[in-house]
Amino acid sequence: MERADRAPCADRRAVAGEVDLARERVADAIGATPEEIVFVASGSEANNLALKGLMLGALPERRRLIVSSVEHPSVLETARHLETRGVPLTIVPVDANGLLDLRVRR
Ligand SMILES: Cc1ncc(COP(=O)(O)O)c(C=O)c1O
Repeated sequence: MERADRAPCADRRAVAGEVDLARERVADAIGATPEEIVFVASGSEANNLALKGLMLGALPERRRLIVSSVEHPSVLETARHLETRGVPLTIVPVDANGLLDLRVRR
């Protein structure tokens, strides 16, 4: 199969057109603008981008991150990284049933 980055120009334009169409459809479905839709390659990349984008884009006084202790590593590691950049972080533990234990705060 031909790699997309080596495909002829016309094919690349056709693929880009399909991606733009998908972007418009997703935006329309969730009440966003196409410029607000970012396609990424994986769940980990999406978590990373969302957390960093939200926290580093927020006003300093509005920055606060609360995650559970059983998040995917792409969430927990990004959260810990953001904490080193000054974002207040709370990691909420879970009990034996996997339910958030809101009595304990770090
Ligand atoms: C909540 C959550 N975030 C991130 C991932 C990682 O996704 P990916 O393997 O696409 O990076 C997973 C995978 O199961 C997930 O469940």
